Amino acid sequence: TTGGTKLFENIFKYKGVNFICNEFADDPMKMENMKCRDDDVIVATFPKSGTTFTQEITWLVLHDADPKSRDGKNFDERMPEIGYSYPGNKYVPRDEMESPRIFKTHYPWRTLPREAKEKKCKIIYVSRNFQDVVVSGYFMVKDRYLVPMPAGKGANETAKSSTDPLVSTDSMRSYFNQMAYDQVIFGNYFDHNLEYWEQRDSGHVLFLFYEDLVEDLAGGVRCIAEFLGKQLSDDQVSAIVAETNFERMRTNPLTNWNFLTKNGLRDPNAAPIMRKGIGP
Ligand code: A3P
Repeated sequence: TTGGTKLFENIFKYKGVNFICNEFADDPMKMENMKCRDDDVIVATFPKSGTTFTQEITWLVLHDADPKSRDGKNFDERMPEIGYSYPGNKYVPRDEMESPRIFKTHYPWRTLPREAKEKKCKIIYVSRNFQDVVVSGYFMVKDRYLVPMPAGKGANETAKSSTDPLVSTDSMRSYFNQMAYDQVIFGNYFDHNLEYWEQRDSGHVLFLFYEDLVEDLAGGVRCIAEFLGKQLSDDQVSAIVAETNFERMRTNPLTNWNFLTKNGLRDPNAAPIMRKGIGP
């Protein structure tokens, strides 16, 4: 990044945290100046903590539990990531998105867009236990890391892309060590969780646990609805549960990350992103 230290090709340290910065990933320094609207909603997580799960619940809560509101668009097209675009997905320009916009981010609190803090945008943070985050992350990067290759290279070469110097996937042990010693993108898991935890009484940050969502999905849906100021009937809560349980999301092309293989960004033989949905 412009304000960070270059570690490897495309990997920078900014405010003590590793970021990717390439043709698909924006400079986090620039994203700190992103224009926010008062009614923007941000789903924030350390990667592999249940981001997609929570995004989809949030979408349906804000769209009257109507699955047709997805209009054939995958979750990332409807709820794009702050500072990141997947090649092949069709995005409405961020400033033309309909309100309330929903964004996803893995940025730590310290590099969130300043206006999201100033305008007290609703932020839903989801935390998942460290062990499962390591296991889930390991399976994601083991075969093929997500970061797209420079133009012209295929999914099979993705593992040798820009993140390779950071993420060794020789073994679960080496991946664990990299997680434990802050060598992965988006920094230290514990700092990431703690920074958002400290905001939990600010009135605009809802701090949730993945494990609670899995155990009581209807309760989680109600909690998110209350936070977002939406009244839902029991039928609507049931409809959202039916659409966001693991099996349904795993098999639904609009929620299951199939666009990665479809867009040539991930080896079709790699472990699916919707892997187990529970502990290791
Ligand atoms: P596993 O790899 O342990 O299966 P993220 O969206 O942050 O990348 O998180 C991915 C993890 O959330 C994966 O965990 C995935 O299976 C799990 N997940 C996705 N949708 C889910 C759902 N509807 N219910 C429970 N877990 C879900």
